[in-house]
Amino acid sequence: MLAFSSNDCVFILTGAGTSAESGIPTFRDAGGLWRNYRFEEVASLAAWERAPRLVWEFYSMRRRVASAAKPNPAHFAVTELERALQDRLFLCTQNVDNLHRQAGSQRVVHMHGELFKSRCDRCARSPFDDTKTYDSDPKLPRCECGGRIRPHICWFGETPFGMDHIFQALARCSVFIAIGTSGVVEPAASFVRRVRGRARTIYIGPEEPANRDSFTECHLGPAGQILPQFLIV
Ligand code: OAD
Repeated sequence: MLAFSSNDCVFILTGAGTSAESGIPTFRDAGGLWRNYRFEEVASLAAWERAPRLVWEFYSMRRRVASAAKPNPAHFAVTELERALQDRLFLCTQNVDNLHRQAGSQRVVHMHGELFKSRCDRCARSPFDDTKTYDSDPKLPRCECGGRIRPHICWFGETPFGMDHIFQALARCSVFIAIGTSGVVEPAASFVRRVRGRARTIYIGPEEPANRDSFTECHLGPAGQILPQFLIV
């Protein structure tokens, strides 16, 4: 069980493993998305220019899978911690599903975007809620300005969202907890290196991440089993 002092500021970074027990596939595990798709073909600006229909097929499939998923005990444990710590908890997710929100988390930074939002690839119109699937439509969606509507996702080569807030929260935190992330994708993989030495650094997941050396503690097991007993205030 993790004990917090009244001064602790906690930074939680979640990855695909946090939603695995909700039935959403991870990227790099057996059966993961990048074992079946080449990210250059479905999750890059070049793919969007070359084959937007293929990109929308990929994200339409992911919208279908995520819309059937429900939060698991890992998401609820994080929400409980947020209720207790309020703004002393900073929740940053690499996941594009909305399971933290569904579990009741109020302040989630989606650094890789949100699956159920779209935006125009040309004009400054804000990202908007969009749960539709576009793989069977003869025409792909267009903005009023004539631009193309794209998923509100950070693709490879693009800058993640909310980085200013994320760096501020990393500078402030005294406890850093990464959950269900393989520790290979930048910049998230380097967050722990920014805080180690001055913050307690904890990893939770069934196997050691690639950046294991930067963590002072590693608790091996599925997040849905470990977190409800671990994150108790
Ligand atoms: P990965 O697929 O790289 O890693 C998933 C991690 O979850 C692995 O380390 C597994 O051991 C772990 N895991 C599996 N089941 C788990 C469970 N029940 N509880 C806890 N952990 C579990 O996914 P990410 O690290 O999230 O980016 O990937 C990072 C980014 O790479 C994604 O956000 C995505 C991808 O390319 C973009 O699309 C921009």
